[in-house]
Amino acid sequence: MARVFSGIKPTGGVHLGNHLGALQNWVSLQDRADAVYCVVDLHALTVPHDPDELRAATLSLAQILIAIGLDPDRCTLFVQSHVHEHSECAWIMECTAAFGELRRMTQFKDKSEGSDFVSGALFTYPALQASDILLYDTNQVPVGEDQRQHIELTRDIAVRFNNRYGDTFVVPEAVIPEAGARVMDLQHPTAKMSKSDESPQGTVLLLDEPSVVEKKIKRSVTDSGSEVRYDPAEKPGVSNLLAILGAATGQSPQRAADGIERYGDLKAATAEAVIEMLRPIQERYHELAADPAETGRLLAKGADKARQVASATMARARANLGLLEA
Ligand code: TYM
Repeated sequence: MARVFSGIKPTGGVHLGNHLGALQNWVSLQDRADAVYCVVDLHALTVPHDPDELRAATLSLAQILIAIGLDPDRCTLFVQSHVHEHSECAWIMECTAAFGELRRMTQFKDKSEGSDFVSGALFTYPALQASDILLYDTNQVPVGEDQRQHIELTRDIAVRFNNRYGDTFVVPEAVIPEAGARVMDLQHPTAKMSKSDESPQGTVLLLDEPSVVEKKIKRSVTDSGSEVRYDPAEKPGVSNLLAILGAATGQSPQRAADGIERYGDLKAATAEAVIEMLRPIQERYHELAADPAETGRLLAKGADKARQVASATMARARANLGLLEA
């Protein structure tokens, strides 16, 4: 059975882009593959953070992941910092990635520009991500479009390591959905929807109340003209709504446009589809949030399962690198 691995950062709340671009695939892949999913808390340390907020966000994110349909009995769900091999392997990845490769990562450019403090780890972050993936002999990585470059780098690192030191890592590939791979900000439809607090009205969070979801979608920016058609270059606002509607209802954005004549109808249909998609998730989340100790137990079990695979991979990597046995 194929091994699937993916991760999500516990920062700023889970939004519709995360869900449609990645998490929906996480849920469906858990029945078709040996799936390993990780709340990547170490990645959240690359930017200045509040410790109490990080602790709360990590737990809450794990509960959201269970609420969307991840079943800790059918997949491995754990917190990155609970499995020490991630940091250990990251060093080896840093030693295998070329400086020039890291410098070409567009996410580093986006995230560092205009920041008061840019950590060294923000630059080497893709090496930690490669470590996350390669530790699990991963075949497939379900992600949104914005992670494609990081998965390509992971592949290059795996191939280079294997060529230098012998077969050690499986070379993974990205799994990116047809609809929802790049959900755009509702207020600025040429920028991707993101966790940053910069555009709260443009970002629908999975835990937003139905009335809030409705308001955000109904006030979304549309385009000149009045025709409803999927054309991201000419009609970014309308196309974004069609992509959201399509991804929320399991059809292509082009099909989602069938029978919708006016912008107002498109907004109403999209809001309704998103609210209906989120309703059961929110109900389940509130049940889980009432019992944090149970989530803690599930995550500890997940970390035990993850550690077994990760420690075997690390043992192989250490031996092949020529590190003296302890
Ligand atoms: P993160 O936490 O920013 O996002 C989690 C997932 O959501 C997807 N995503 C989107 N998809 C469509 N439209 C959007 N607007 C949108 N915004 C986010 C992302 O593509 C991602 O799949 N570096 C990663 C986390 C990570 C990881 C890994 C992923 C760490 N280690 C190993 C895969 C494998 C990140 O910051 O994702």
